[in-house]
Amino acid sequence: EKGGYDHFMLKEIYEQPRAILDTYRGRLRAAQGLIKMAGIDENIEKFMNANRIIIVACGTSWHAGLVAEYIFEDLARIPVEVEYASEFRYRNPVITDKDVLIAISQSGETADTLAAIKLAKEKGAYVFGVCNVVGSSIARETDSGAYTHAGPEIGVASTKAFTTQITVLTLVALKLAKEKGVFSQSRFHEFLTELETIPAKVEKVLESNALIEIIADVYKDSTNCLYLGRGYNFPVALEGALKLKEISYIHAEGYPAAEMKHGPIALIDDQMPVFVIATKKGHYEKVVSNIQEIKSRKGKIIAIVTEGDTQVTELADHVVEVPETLESLTPLLTTIPLQLLSYHIAVMRGCNVDQPRNLAKSVTVE
Ligand code: F6R
Repeated sequence: EKGGYDHFMLKEIYEQPRAILDTYRGRLRAAQGLIKMAGIDENIEKFMNANRIIIVACGTSWHAGLVAEYIFEDLARIPVEVEYASEFRYRNPVITDKDVLIAISQSGETADTLAAIKLAKEKGAYVFGVCNVVGSSIARETDSGAYTHAGPEIGVASTKAFTTQITVLTLVALKLAKEKGVFSQSRFHEFLTELETIPAKVEKVLESNALIEIIADVYKDSTNCLYLGRGYNFPVALEGALKLKEISYIHAEGYPAAEMKHGPIALIDDQMPVFVIATKKGHYEKVVSNIQEIKSRKGKIIAIVTEGDTQVTELADHVVEVPETLESLTPLLTTIPLQLLSYHIAVMRGCNVDQPRNLAKSVTVE
């Protein structure tokens, strides 16, 4: 059932090229220059007339929502707010019938997310779901939606659900960008063809597994870790930290790299591993100076860099390369090494990777 892998989590990490492909296949028609998604096509005026999009989710799905915020605002120029479902539902939020709410949930059963949907519907918002489990409560409760075609996710730590959520949300953003006319046909086409290269590029990142295992061995006894990223890769830093916490029980924090000097920099000493996403596009030079600040305080730097990188590679203690892609698609690649790293550290520490203590796959109580 684990298909030759020691754990479901590792199997699911390796399934990502396929899961991403399955998620865009049939929807993305690069040759025709269009994206077909019934849940959007049939209700396109709701999206076109929306004042803003509110995204609600929990945990890893909330991180996918944060990536989507960057994508929607950057590509489609639609204002987005991302909320923890548990906060949103209880804070008397301002919602109108001009809002579109997108709920993201792997299981489709998360109690807080479901409650947030019901509240938004009562106030007249249009609700769109991004779920993995077909026929789940959230899939049934939403007005329309798009499934992630990740296949069953058994490991409690979410991996392929995250990358397929980002894939679906990228398709939605591209579709709306085109519809709104903020995207030329050629830019749209560039995105579609680049998206089609992602499964092979994820495959390439997975080839770094042995290197990542070596890095994991160096840092497996750490008691604290910091994860830094900027722009599109800030949510990836949050997700990297969550993955490490939940399966290895090492305390980890994710931060926007520039925010480090407002507090967390005080934590840095020679015992502190700092995982930095430092890919070429997206504030590269600024991340380089953040890395220099960490170095001068003797922090250990493990960087995710673009293939062929030299500047960060010279500064860092370890680097893992990912292929080059469009900035907005980098999270689909930079997430992978961080998943593998958490996996190997947890295994080395003797943790129950697929069923970490105190956690449940689907959180049906608030
Ligand atoms: C993290 C994790 C949780 C879930 C969260 C939301 O690896 O598994 O943080 O992401 O409980 O679950 P769904 O997406 O099912 O609503």
